[in-house]
Amino acid sequence: MSHIVVEKKDRITRIELNRPEKKNALSPGMYAAMAAALLAADADAEVRAVLIHGQSGCFTSGNDVRDFLELERAPGASPASGFLRAISSARKPLVAAVGGPAVGIGTTLLLHCDLIYAAPNARLQLPFVPLGLVPEAASSLLLPRLAGYQRAAALLLLGQPFGAEQALAAGIVTEIVPEAELLERALQAALALAALPPASVRMTKELMKREAAGAVQARMTEELELFGERLRSPEAKEALGAFMEKRKPDFSRFS
Ligand code: COA
Repeated sequence: MSHIVVEKKDRITRIELNRPEKKNALSPGMYAAMAAALLAADADAEVRAVLIHGQSGCFTSGNDVRDFLELERAPGASPASGFLRAISSARKPLVAAVGGPAVGIGTTLLLHCDLIYAAPNARLQLPFVPLGLVPEAASSLLLPRLAGYQRAAALLLLGQPFGAEQALAAGIVTEIVPEAELLERALQAALALAALPPASVRMTKELMKREAAGAVQARMTEELELFGERLRSPEAKEALGAFMEKRKPDFSRFS
């Protein structure tokens, strides 16, 4: 069974994260499949909108922590980078349905979606600092703009989980819907987008995103560079190792 299920139906590309045994943790192959689906949707004149979802109890636990520890990577390169480029420059509208954990890139990818529906059980988190890392997906630029500096600082510096109400207040989420209706509500939104004049939808998205587009790509590059450096840092090794060993990290020896 594929960890990313892609289906095209009713002029919508549906991308389902499907690795429930690891809480939909994202591997390099999953990033590549999602990037390919997004690029194919943009290139396909029949597709009018993209829907991204997991299961009602889990969106994604973010990057596979084991891969963070084990994968050798060139400076600035990251398995997520192709996906981030694709989602941040997608021309078709993106709808997301979020229930349960949406950790790390599971939250930052939402900053590149257009309509985001969350269930009351959604548990978002930006744990980059607690993991000894730095934010990615241009979230260090987009979140302060979206939520205001102080709210973004609380979410990005402390890196603690937050719920659907807080995500709504921060502007990350469009609407909170009951868990049982989550996927259907997001699908209806995608169908509504698909029924609209497609060029007008694309142009309106492009106009709204234009001012920040260059800055977003530049910040993403800077963040990826720093992220790669941080992954090799002793602080990150302690934090990620602690997660795998199911223990509390100890940062007391670092200056
Ligand atoms: N990478 C790799 N494996 C992961 C994972 C991740 N991001 N998230 C969860 N898993 C694995 C767990 O190790 C566990 O594996 P096991 O059954 O072999 O022990 C399994 O998925 C279930 O996770 P568990 O932690 O038991 O589920 P939970 O419901 O108690 O908690 C989360 C869910 C998402 C809150 C928790 O798993 C978590 O915090 N994950 C790490 C998130 C993270 O730091 N991501 C990186 C962001 S930059």
